[in-house]
Amino acid sequence: MKPENISLIYFSPTSTTGIVLEEIARGLGYESYDVIDITRPEIRNQPAPKFDNNLVLIGAPVYAGRIAKDAVDYFNTLTGAGSLAVLVVLYGNREFEDAMLELKNVASERGFVPFAAGAFIGEHSFSDNEFLIAKNRPDEDDLEKAFLFGKKIGDLLNTIETPMDIIPVEVPGNFPYRDGMANGAFSFINVTDDCDDCGLCASACPKNAIDESNHYSTIDAKCIFCCACIKACPQQARILKDGPIKKKAKWLSENYAQRKEPQTYLATN
Ligand SMILES: Cc1cc2nc3c(=O)[nH]c(=O)nc-3n(C[C@H](O)[C@H](O)[C@H](O)COP(=O)(O)O)c2cc1C
Ligand code: SF4
Ligand code: SF4
Repeated sequence: MKPENISLIYFSPTSTTGIVLEEIARGLGYESYDVIDITRPEIRNQPAPKFDNNLVLIGAPVYAGRIAKDAVDYFNTLTGAGSLAVLVVLYGNREFEDAMLELKNVASERGFVPFAAGAFIGEHSFSDNEFLIAKNRPDEDDLEKAFLFGKKIGDLLNTIETPMDIIPVEVPGNFPYRDGMANGAFSFINVTDDCDDCGLCASACPKNAIDESNHYSTIDAKCIFCCACIKACPQQARILKDGPIKKKAKWLSENYAQRKEPQTYLATN
């Protein structure tokens, strides 16, 4: 079977999830596809789409071994109605732990048939010029693997007549899930005098946590530490301040320097 429509739906503050999903879609051989990028809050506030016998690629970053909470909250409002789902998690070269299982369970509960899954590596959100963690990933090699994964999914689809012919994919992870992100607001960004007030950080923020009228001010209670604002700043005026996140970045750069490779999983029919 070749589903007529393909949709990509993802949360991707620093873009790595979106890039990998697009490459998988290219490997699948579709000339065009719908993209629903739920990173911005105004998109997540709109009614969630209902899919009907589509092929849907669902992607999100791993935060503390779980799916980023804003993504899960939104995915929990989708309607799958028997659509086939490809699940993709992006992680920063540490571990993805229970994130893929969590995504599979959410997708199944919402009526999708998850039949393929991939864990890909993206530059860690906390990586900067001082502490390099999976710097510049996904790179060419990762993208080739994403493309080939898309091709393999296409080959599997060619062997089946309907989604009912597929046994959902087995993925790693444990339930009950690990705890995930601890709650707690604190400031972890310094804004230097290099800021020229362009506002790009505020436009990149998935939580509207940067004051539109004062780009030096972050609303800590809304911030999810995604670092989209830091990576979006053309002046490199937003930097990690001394504290737990900077310490974590140092620890990750020292302990997770060894390159990990994407892992993919396919259902049987
Ligand atoms: C708050 C937070 C927690 C994270 N936790 C993990 C983790 O548990 N394991 C890991 O390998 N990477 C972790 N990362 C890194 C992201 O998963 C990784 O950078 C991913 O590529 C980001 O996706 P995006 O570019 O689509 O936003 C974390 C990032 C943030 C911001
Ligand atoms: S993106 Fe950088 S330069 Fe632009 S307003 Fe934000 S901090 Fe200032
Ligand atoms: S202010 Fe916080 S939530 Fe907003 S982009 Fe920056 S790190 Fe992410």
